[in-house]
Amino acid sequence: MATYIWNDMWTTGIPLMDSQHKQLFDALNALLDACSNNRASEQVDKTLNFLANYTVKHFGDEERLQIQYGYPDFASHKKLHDNFKKFVSELAAEIKAEGPTVPLIAKVNFGVGDWLIQHIYTEDKKIAEYIKSKAKLT
Ligand SMILES: [Fe+2]
Repeated sequence: MATYIWNDMWTTGIPLMDSQHKQLFDALNALLDACSNNRASEQVDKTLNFLANYTVKHFGDEERLQIQYGYPDFASHKKLHDNFKKFVSELAAEIKAEGPTVPLIAKVNFGVGDWLIQHIYTEDKKIAEYIKSKAKLT
């Protein structure tokens, strides 16, 4: 069962961002599913790697969009991305070392799931509004 169900409140209106955000939630759900169902550690590793790699890909694409449109808060937004990538890779290393323990699963929920929702709803929406306002001018 999916833990994170997409809410239209999180839609930015930029198709690339929205489809990748949905994909991130799918990846997160797959990881939580693998952790909670006592799946083989192979499945936990696989879903962890996918989430970590997809996060890097998505942030790269989102950063390119910001550069393309000259988003003025690019540097501070990139810092948020860099900190989160570091958090995810450290968390992945912890889960690989200790297995999906209850505190680590909680860290996935609060540190990854809640962070993503907050980030999309506040920071990414600002980028989307900026891009949409620029696109109207051209
Ligand atoms: Fe972002």
